[in-house]
Amino acid sequence: MSTALRYLAAARPEAATHLMGFYKNSVQALDEKTRFLIQIVTKVSVGTERGLRQYAPKALKAGASKEEILDAVLMAFPAAGLNKVLDAINVLIDLELLPDVATPNMEVPAESNTLGAVSDFPMNRMQCVNRASGDLIVFRTGEHSVKVYESRCPHSKATLCKGVDHGTTVECRVHNWVFDLATGKCLGPDTENTATMLDVKASVVDGQVVLG
Ligand code: FES
Repeated sequence: MSTALRYLAAARPEAATHLMGFYKNSVQALDEKTRFLIQIVTKVSVGTERGLRQYAPKALKAGASKEEILDAVLMAFPAAGLNKVLDAINVLIDLELLPDVATPNMEVPAESNTLGAVSDFPMNRMQCVNRASGDLIVFRTGEHSVKVYESRCPHSKATLCKGVDHGTTVECRVHNWVFDLATGKCLGPDTENTATMLDVKASVVDGQVVLG
C-alpha cells in the first residue's frame, strides 16, 4: 500500500475502507494476469512511473510474457500519446521487463560537455538538463559553483527530474525518498538512510558549467 493510501486509511478510515473494498471486489470476471496488464495500460495512460514499476513486475509474476507487457504499453498509445509511451518503455527497459531486441546501430553525435552559462541556472533551485546520455540535475549553489547529479534515483533508478521539487530538496515519486540538492544526501523518510544522489563531476569555467 502506498504512503498516500496509508495516510488516507488513517485520516478517513471509513472512506478508505470503501475504496479498498471497491478495488478488492469490483473486478470479478478477469483473471489476475489480465487485470495486471490492464493496470499497465492505465498506468501508462496517466503517466505514473510509480504505478508502472509496481504493476509491470506483478503482470510478469502472474504469467504475462514480456511481449504481452510491451503490447499493454502500446495499447495505451491512443490515450497516452507518444511521450508517455516512450517514458514507460524507458522504465521497463530499466526493469528488464521488455523483450530483448537487437537495437539498430545508430550513430550518436558526440555531446558537448558544456551544460550552459552558469547565469542561466537559478540559484538554489533544481534544474533538469535533458541529454542523450541521460538527464542531469543542476543545482547552483553560488555565483560560481554548482552541484550536478544524474537524474536516476539511487534507490531503484526512478527519474528524479520528475520528482517533487521542494526548492532545496527533491522527493522521488516512487518511494518518497527526499534528497538535499546541495549535498545529495538522503534526508528521509528514514533518517538513517545513507544513500546519496549520483554525483557528476562538474565545475564553472569562464562562466560556463562544464562536465568533467
Ligand atoms: S526509486 Fe525508490 S525512492 Fe526513488
